[in-house]
Amino acid sequence: MQTEDFSTADFLTSPISLKLLPSTSFINDGGELFIGDVAVTDMAAEFGTPLFIYDEENLRHNISEAKAAFPAGVAYASKAFLCKAMAELVAEYGINMDVSSLGEMYIALGSGVPAENIVLHGNNKSVLEMKFAVENGIKIVIDSFDEINLLHDVTSGLKKKCRALLRVTPGVEAHTHEFVKTGHEDSKFGFPLADSVAHRAIEQLFRLGHVELLGLHSHIGSQIFELSPYVETMEIMAPIFNRYSFSELCIGGGLGVPYLGNEYAPSVSEWAKAALQAAEQAGIAKDVAITAEPGRSIVAATAITCYTVGSIKEIPQVRTYLAVDGGMSDNPRPILYGSGYEVFLPSRADAFREKAVRVVGKHCESGDILVSGGFIPVDTEVGEIIATPVTGAYGYSMASHYNRLLRPAVVFVRDGNPRLVCRRESLEDLLRFDV
Ligand SMILES: Cc1ncc(COP(=O)(O)O)c(C=O)c1O
Repeated sequence: MQTEDFSTADFLTSPISLKLLPSTSFINDGGELFIGDVAVTDMAAEFGTPLFIYDEENLRHNISEAKAAFPAGVAYASKAFLCKAMAELVAEYGINMDVSSLGEMYIALGSGVPAENIVLHGNNKSVLEMKFAVENGIKIVIDSFDEINLLHDVTSGLKKKCRALLRVTPGVEAHTHEFVKTGHEDSKFGFPLADSVAHRAIEQLFRLGHVELLGLHSHIGSQIFELSPYVETMEIMAPIFNRYSFSELCIGGGLGVPYLGNEYAPSVSEWAKAALQAAEQAGIAKDVAITAEPGRSIVAATAITCYTVGSIKEIPQVRTYLAVDGGMSDNPRPILYGSGYEVFLPSRADAFREKAVRVVGKHCESGDILVSGGFIPVDTEVGEIIATPVTGAYGYSMASHYNRLLRPAVVFVRDGNPRLVCRRESLEDLLRFDV
């Protein structure tokens, strides 16, 4: 959650911490930030702003870490950030991909992710989505009794078999924002354990000739900083899991990442270790595949977003507004969840940030805030490039056309080569849907 406005905590006013920046970041003697061996301000000049810059080496490292941490299988949760280049990385490393719509399935398949490595989620899958998944051999996570009926109709209609998991809500309250909690009973997702609802669903699925029910799934929420809710989930899931001879137990995603210099989150390796240990302690057989589907923890910290400062408005005794050329259309997390970010100048990344500002976008909403309580160097001027770190997850993927702003460009940079992976939208793009 957002740090208090105008707090003068050291971490906010000191130079930006390298731990919030992508892994190949370095700051030269002149204070200029480089990512992937390219100066960030050069990329902003070449590709324009707002601009998402992803550190490709960091992405590759995170995918490899997750793959090694969950040897039985890990799926990248593509909702966090998806484009062709990202899906191609997933395909290259041979990990699985979690998708939750026809659109995500289309991009995954079209980018070379094999159908057998794709798993379809969603609490209200359409007939088309179910048919597409069954036809292509995509694994399906079943979310409701209506979906069991739909799956029956689709598999018998197509005369095709389908692999499935059943999503269970274990009743675990993760300490995170209300809108991203999903493991508690009062949730639109999955089958509750209470009143044997999940048992009934399992029995029903066992009766469907075309469905191979591999196991259970749970996802308790997102941006979770503690490992104990996962251990608790394992303890709660073990009895129902062990009653059947299932082969897979998926713990979902949700591992948190630090957005502010004073936050700490466990690594994916630590998360996996805790989950695998908890599975063993809960009596889950060694040959069961304990799988996971992290999104944010793979991509969030690998990217920054660059903006150009357009106006600095001082309101004496109140605050200073620093307005940039993007806003809630490229990062809706602050307005959705009150999420906190830091802000810094890539051209002076070693500078102390002693001026309190509220970084706002250019949308027609007072809630269009990117950084509620940020700090920048006192001599920051209109026209300079500022950046928000840790914007690789749920930014571009949640981007909108509000006020008909053009969705930003995305660059992957590695070994001195920035490559444009999503071009900035054009004015013509805005009219493409009008008939
Ligand atoms: C079913 C499921 N799995 C995985 C994820 C990924 O979560 P995160 O990005 O927090 O790791 C989500 C996110 O909402 C989800 O709904």
